Amino acid sequence: MNWYPSPVAPQAGRQVLVTGANAGIGFFTSARLASAGAHVTLSGRDPGRLAAAVAAIRGRVPTASVDTLVVDTSSLASVRAGVDRLLDRAPLDVVVLNAGMVHTPSRREESVDGNELVLATNVLGHFALLEGMLPHLAAGARVVTLGSLSMRLSTFRVDDLQLERSYDAWRAYAQSKIAAASIAFELDRRLRRAATDAAEAVGAASVTPRVHSLVAHPGYSISGRTPRVPGVNEPSRADRFLDALQAAGAQGKHRGADVVVHAATADDVEGGQFWGPARLVKGPPVLGTPTATSRDPRIGERVWMLAEQATGRAFDVGAAMGARP
Ligand SMILES: NC(=O)c1ccc[n+]([C@@H]2O[C@H](COP(=O)([O-])OP(=O)(O)OC[C@H]3O[C@@H](n4cnc5c(N)ncnc54)[C@H](OP(=O)(O)O)[C@@H]3O)[C@@H](O)[C@H]2O)c1
Repeated sequence: MNWYPSPVAPQAGRQVLVTGANAGIGFFTSARLASAGAHVTLSGRDPGRLAAAVAAIRGRVPTASVDTLVVDTSSLASVRAGVDRLLDRAPLDVVVLNAGMVHTPSRREESVDGNELVLATNVLGHFALLEGMLPHLAAGARVVTLGSLSMRLSTFRVDDLQLERSYDAWRAYAQSKIAAASIAFELDRRLRRAATDAAEAVGAASVTPRVHSLVAHPGYSISGRTPRVPGVNEPSRADRFLDALQAAGAQGKHRGADVVVHAATADDVEGGQFWGPARLVKGPPVLGTPTATSRDPRIGERVWMLAEQATGRAFDVGAAMGARP
């Protein structure tokens, strides 16, 4: 089976970071960008699983330029250690915030930092990563956050972001995806404001942000419709059978990665957008309409502030962009 459903423009010279890159959509996104010539840093929490992913990519593309970075996104100390290592490397052109707990615990759990575990893993770790990395992103860089159809299927309790009063496994996942998208769009607004301020300071008319933040969702992408990759994707025969029954409304994760790769590379992409598959759950990438909640600036501002509190660091986008030489 073909891992690379649609062509990707040459990516030589571009530096990419993908979180949660050892499996699923993150793996296929990494593989395709590396096969197009990008240097890809595969990030994940387990060195063995990262090594298997790198071996799988090199097995297909021996010349692939890839390395690894061990980061557990549920731990702020792990994220900060990862940021320190990334700051010694070349500036990034693409950051794909993909790592996520998809199968969430039935009872509320907390991260090592005392935050609700799904929020910590899917949102707060990425927020802290960006806070550290924003000054180290290349001009024109893209930050692609993984959204989800679940954003349409759940209400958002911004007054209980840590789900201390209303935890359930489904809400924890959906709420984390809404919060992640809300932060992505808030980042876009703050990047645009920083660009306007910088332009005004020198009397220039141009207000193109230096960095673009957007959201991509992969529809419904399942392992049993995905090519077998040793050490990366090895569904049982039963899973393959069950997933085949869902074929009409699902696609493989290699195809789900199409939208993410498009968001990371295509010319028709800009900050603030929401990309997804043409037929909602599957299909080629098309520009979509995000939920009103995820686009709401008042909610975005609130989620941003709560994320700052939960990570214990102020994230000043204007200062981060102005800090660049
Ligand atoms: N598949 C879909 O239909 C779908 C739909 C909508 C949105 N999404 C989003 O797409 C992203 C990827 O989903 P997927 O289906 O590819 O999931 P997946 O196959 O379960 O892969 C998830 C990846 O995230 C990593 N991860 C989990 N917890 C982590 C942690 N604490 N620190 C670092 N990495 C961690 C996993 O690493 P380990 O192997 O170590 O667990 C794995 O590499 C998620 O953000 C998900 O919300 C997926």
